[in-house]
Amino acid sequence: MTKPIILTGDRPTGKLHIGHYVGSLKNRVLLQNQDKYDMFVFLADQQALTDYAKTPDKVIESIGNVALDYLAAGLDPDKVTIFIQSQIPELAELTMYYMNLVSLARLERNPTVKTEIAQKGFGESIPTGFLVYPISQAADITAFKANFVPVGTDQKPMIEQTREIVRSFNHTYQTDVLVEPEGIFPENEAAGRLPGLDGNAKMSKSLNNGIYLADDADTVRKKVMSMYTDPDHIRVEDPGKIEGNMVFHYLDVFGRAEDQDEIAAMKEHYQRGGLGDVKTKRYLLEIMERELAPIRERRLEFAKDMGEVYRMLEKGSQKARETASQTLSDVKAAMGINYF
Ligand code: TRP
Repeated sequence: MTKPIILTGDRPTGKLHIGHYVGSLKNRVLLQNQDKYDMFVFLADQQALTDYAKTPDKVIESIGNVALDYLAAGLDPDKVTIFIQSQIPELAELTMYYMNLVSLARLERNPTVKTEIAQKGFGESIPTGFLVYPISQAADITAFKANFVPVGTDQKPMIEQTREIVRSFNHTYQTDVLVEPEGIFPENEAAGRLPGLDGNAKMSKSLNNGIYLADDADTVRKKVMSMYTDPDHIRVEDPGKIEGNMVFHYLDVFGRAEDQDEIAAMKEHYQRGGLGDVKTKRYLLEIMERELAPIRERRLEFAKDMGEVYRMLEKGSQKARETASQTLSDVKAAMGINYF
């Protein structure tokens, strides 16, 4: 019996932080353990290189780090195919054929691409590889005939573009080889995107406001103790604010069902006055460590044998390649370029 296929990927541009964990990794592990899907998770190094072509070291070293983050979070290579994009040349070949089906104007209209062009300050010199990355992303998705693609909301335009390419290909070549994927987006934006420790909407390396799955216990403690709370909550007896207070925001994200009474009581006490930030932070630390400590331990364990981690990636890439190569031959046959 064939199961529905789920595929998702990350750009390897640094270690993963707890925002990645609550926003996507955790859910992938849940999906993996449901045993209802065939899952592929991959490191989109070629896509990362559209930004780091001239300084590839960052991408290269992130491969090992992100693979460790995956394993530490609980992705199991016996259940999920974990692979590296650049090791599947069939993806580039598919991209080549899809490029003929997409206009330059359509690419420039992609809202995510548009925002990125403005952010990166390319001016008139947009690298071609950058502009076509949505097409390469369509190749990633379709090569595995993915039915579902769990991604952040910013990836909506990529899924839409992929669906258009699938329809256009199937229509042009009168075939049904390509499968139209559906995006799976975070149900509520709050869990989908964890703000930084400083209250900034985005957790990111450049803002230095994140907690990483690789951070040791002492680092996590220091970071939690320095979190942004309510700047007007000066003395313990002052009434404090919950909205915009990162400690309570994180408690909502990391608290489990059995913690809800305690969290509600703390919120009430804090708003009334008489509850200090040190106490709320210590409690948050306890709640977070319950989840992070086992991840950190597994990460250290896997990191002892990086050779094994790379062998896992190699095996996953070989397996992924078999699937992609089958799709590529179907695609070429549909186009009629299967000459021999
Ligand atoms: N663009 C995605 C991101 O930045 C990464 C990615 C590349 C991806 N190819 C993909 C995600 C295919 C899902 C499916 O997060």
